[in-house]
Amino acid sequence: MKWEAFASYDALSARAAELFLNAIHADPRVVFGLPTGRTPLGMYERVVAICSRQYHCFTEVTTFNLDEYAGISCEHPGSYCSYMREHLVEHVDLDRRRAHIPDGTAPDLEAECEHYEHEIRRAGGLGITFLGLGRNGHIGFNEPGTPFGSRTRVVSLTASTRTANAALFADGHVPHDAITMGIGTILESKSIVLLVSGTGKEEAVARLRGGEINEEFPASALHLHGDVTVLVS
Ligand code: GLP
Repeated sequence: MKWEAFASYDALSARAAELFLNAIHADPRVVFGLPTGRTPLGMYERVVAICSRQYHCFTEVTTFNLDEYAGISCEHPGSYCSYMREHLVEHVDLDRRRAHIPDGTAPDLEAECEHYEHEIRRAGGLGITFLGLGRNGHIGFNEPGTPFGSRTRVVSLTASTRTANAALFADGHVPHDAITMGIGTILESKSIVLLVSGTGKEEAVARLRGGEINEEFPASALHLHGDVTVLVS
């Protein structure tokens, strides 16, 4: 695990955007695993600023988001689908048919999870996956206790995660369930970049630096992968 520390969120975001764009330069058909949340906003902003000038960065790119809430549609402002439209998809030439997000409104959520895994395989697997970090160490929506071999599936969110993500749910009704890529799915990505910024994550960072490998601390699964870069500010 390689660590890069930054004095500011802006510096972290600039480095994340550089790694993002380098991946496209190295392979214009790259398959991304993509995060949501507050942390990657600066990265997306920079990627959009550059790629809306050179309107061809994403022509052949494929993306798979890590997760989505169950039971809300893309029109809901709290959905990750809406987030991705707002912060990336609407501003670049990413073909929407290649911009994948689990469908939280699918009538059969289990079938949707299987379909998502199938689509990732069909795209040739994840090339580079960017992750954020939950305060309790979750990655995607893989909460503490998640088996490291887990695949894309429906999960229940912890109360702390629902509280941390309540801002975009004006009515206070944060969904109880979500679809998330599993930790096993994430670990199959050729490379992984973990972005860590924001208050309340000091303990999670210290635990990750400590090197323990424990399913009660989901991010520690990343120690089992050979190409992980952690950007921390
Ligand atoms: C949510 C997402 C995670 C994200 C985490 C941290 O729970 N499902 O993928 O990493 O929040 O979010 P933030 O970057 O806002 O701290």
